[in-house]
Amino acid sequence: MRSDANLAGPLADPVPGPRSESVVGDVSRETSPAPADNDTPIGRAAQLAVEALGRAGEGLPRPAQTRVMVVANQKGGVGKTTTTVNLAASLALHGARVLVIDLDPQGNASTALGIDHHAEVPSIYDVLVDSRPLLEVVQPVPDVEGLFCAPATIDLAGAEIELVSLVARESRLQRAIQSYEQPLDYILIDCPPSLGLLTVNALVAGAEVLIPIQCEYYALEGLGQLLRNVDLVRAHLNPSLHVSTILLTMYDGRTRLASQVAEEVRSHFGDEVLRTSIPRSVRISEAPSYGQTVLTYDPGSSGSLSYLEAAREIALRGVGIQYDARNAHRGGAGMNSTQNMAEGIQ
Ligand SMILES: Nc1ncnc2c1ncn2[C@@H]1O[C@H](COP(=O)(O)OP(=O)(O)OP(=O)(O)O)[C@@H](O)[C@H]1O
Ligand SMILES: [Mg+2]
Repeated sequence: MRSDANLAGPLADPVPGPRSESVVGDVSRETSPAPADNDTPIGRAAQLAVEALGRAGEGLPRPAQTRVMVVANQKGGVGKTTTTVNLAASLALHGARVLVIDLDPQGNASTALGIDHHAEVPSIYDVLVDSRPLLEVVQPVPDVEGLFCAPATIDLAGAEIELVSLVARESRLQRAIQSYEQPLDYILIDCPPSLGLLTVNALVAGAEVLIPIQCEYYALEGLGQLLRNVDLVRAHLNPSLHVSTILLTMYDGRTRLASQVAEEVRSHFGDEVLRTSIPRSVRISEAPSYGQTVLTYDPGSSGSLSYLEAAREIALRGVGIQYDARNAHRGGAGMNSTQNMAEGIQ
């Protein structure tokens, strides 16, 4: 694995063609065409989307080394897959080369990226269980230049058990990634809603953990277990592992509950929480059924804009640049610093 922004490897141009054509298709719109002066909220949103997509050409700073981010939370349905695919697409639209590894037997990330993942397709199962090179299972994502996916098939459901008897069962994904020779800026790993061997493989393979937290009651429940697992993996298997990013998802600004949850999360986690939060958006939930990310399905929607901003924030933080929060969609109150993330979390 290596990261080299100037290297044009064999995967450099999997989907040739101008980016503007591929992302602005004939799709249904949450947004209307922007009025000339753009002084309505929708007009501003559309304008921002265009600008954000326009910025993609310039690109964001690329990390010096490939950033491997593990998207994990053992609570189900909090937005792990949605966050993985939309952040990955956003980063790619910002000019980065990004690989999504679908580590969930449900294969939702593969579906959302429009990647074929029926039982016969070479998949991450073959990589983990049969030591097949990662390169042989990676597919380019249609419509988004620079975005790739290692799909999951239903076979992966058996992997938790099959892995138990294999040599180096916790580090098989790490080895596969280390021998992946293509240049990449980011690898995002979509974990299943459990803390089994698949998630452990992801935690051993990555340096950063990204935890999506849904702005609902019980949001923090169970997180303590995840944080303890991160500590265990760091102590025994992967010293560089740390929780780098918390993202608030499905934020509904109309409810007091959402802002209370956001405030609580920010007071527990402090600076790790992105200033951008992801609003609840019908467009975000519709996009996967078209095999698309919200970035291609409705580029001007609030969901698309917020993922673009979150990606921007992640990219800037990664190279130590202060994020300018003017565009951030923020949930809740200001950030407090915390000494101990797990403190007070069950
Ligand atoms: N911001 C959002 N607005 C509206 N719906 C959303 C949003 N984010 C996610 N969803 C919807 O919520 C559901 C759960 O999201 P998702 O599949 O990303 O969660 P998950 O954590 O990956 O779930 P699992 O634990 O099953 O893997 C999906 O139907 C998704 O479309
Ligand atoms: Mg999922």
